[in-house]
Amino acid sequence: MNSSRRNFIKNSALAATAIGATTVISSKVWSAGPAPSDKINVALIGCRNMGFGILSNHLNTGQVNCVALCDVDRNVLNEKAQAVKNNHGQEPALYGDYRKVLERKDVDAVIIGTPDHWHCLIMVEACSAGKDVYVEKPMANTIGECNIMVKAAKRYGRVVQVGQQQRSSKIFNDSMHVIKSGKIGTLRKVNIWVNFNYGLGTVPVPDSPVPDGVDYDFWLGPAPARPFNPARFHGSWRHYWDYGGGLMSDWGVHLVDMGLWAKDITTGPPKVITFADNFSKADMARDTFDTMNIIYPKDDFVIHYDLTAGIEQGPFDSSYGLQFIGEKGTLVADRNKYHLYPEWDGRKNAPKTEELHFDKGNETHRQHVDNFLECIKTRQTPVCPPEIGRAAALHVHIANIAARVGETTLEWDDANNRFTNSEKANELVVPEYRKPWKLPEI
Ligand SMILES: NC(=O)c1ccc[n+]([C@@H]2O[C@H](COP(=O)([O-])OP(=O)(O)OC[C@H]3O[C@@H](n4cnc5c(N)ncnc54)[C@H](O)[C@@H]3O)[C@@H](O)[C@H]2O)c1
Repeated sequence: MNSSRRNFIKNSALAATAIGATTVISSKVWSAGPAPSDKINVALIGCRNMGFGILSNHLNTGQVNCVALCDVDRNVLNEKAQAVKNNHGQEPALYGDYRKVLERKDVDAVIIGTPDHWHCLIMVEACSAGKDVYVEKPMANTIGECNIMVKAAKRYGRVVQVGQQQRSSKIFNDSMHVIKSGKIGTLRKVNIWVNFNYGLGTVPVPDSPVPDGVDYDFWLGPAPARPFNPARFHGSWRHYWDYGGGLMSDWGVHLVDMGLWAKDITTGPPKVITFADNFSKADMARDTFDTMNIIYPKDDFVIHYDLTAGIEQGPFDSSYGLQFIGEKGTLVADRNKYHLYPEWDGRKNAPKTEELHFDKGNETHRQHVDNFLECIKTRQTPVCPPEIGRAAALHVHIANIAARVGETTLEWDDANNRFTNSEKANELVVPEYRKPWKLPEI
């Protein structure tokens, strides 16, 4: 993007922050197909799997220059640099330290595709450096970090999209329309299930030397120092509390988010009732739970989350999904389809509502990226801002915290950010960062 337009956007954002409002610039200004200098300059931090997928979606829009790639694993960095060159003809600068990327004045936006324990620090520093941010889900690995990130986006007036891409999917947008228009009657219960083999973690392997090209100390960052072990590294880090929250948070944020969206809930859960256990712990490398049943009682409905790692079968022939139960019918949805099953009215001898079916699920990462890029231009709020990322993350983290400290029921005071019935649980709200990394203050 050329510097006068970049400054215009930054000044608009600052003005919006100053007056506490969102400034809207007509999207027509941008709609004619960008000249090269008008393209948005993005940098990717954390390149291996999802980050690269999200970058590819950015590049496929034709509206974006990739000016920098950053990864603490040089092997990943080189491989992805080659892929960007082959697929898009671009040659981004390569970095191992994200702070050097954030120093670059020409970077408009960063994509954060690191493991979860890094999201907060990089996001906050990116916002304070004036960058817009696409941060992968779950927004952070702890409640305290989520709170800081919500404040950072506001304080620095940045556009922040959290990678809960189901917010951009036609299936779930239509499902929400069906539910909110009253077609299933009063929503009484949301059943969520998720059963995947990968949730068991990996086969245990001994500690080993750090692979060539990997800056392992930087990979650990604010997490506790530990010897290198491949089962805790690329991809499988998500099964260890130091870096992630297991299947509960990995998929949970996507699915619980849908239950919250049905009633537009944007706060943490007042009460969480948790059963959790590990039936395969001895065989697999993992901290997190393989079996969880969580109840989130709400004012006028209930969400029930049923997790069984290590199996692929589930209700309605789907290994994951949601069932929105109303008095007139039940809507069952996953990423590919939804189906409304009407209840039968015995007195009228007729269905209580019309049957509906839609099974043409579409690619949703691209739509989520499109929404982010549009909001960078218009300074409007994206479909998944930090408040929504926080609400979903708190629901899954609180369930995990309950299981970790052995409490069946946790009560959460969202305004004061503390548990009212467990000091042990309060100890897990704010993380302790390993020096020299410091939890950001906003
Ligand atoms: N939205 C979705 O559907 C979806 C799907 C999968 C993963 N994710 C999320 O994407 C994120 C990444 O997951 P993944 O599966 O791609 O993990 P991964 O382990 O495959 O890749 C993470 C990359 O980040 C790099 N990295 C770690 N610390 C870094 C740092 N400080 N600076 C630069 N690079 C660093 C690693 O070397 C690695 O290349 C996670 O937050 C995950 O939850 C989202």
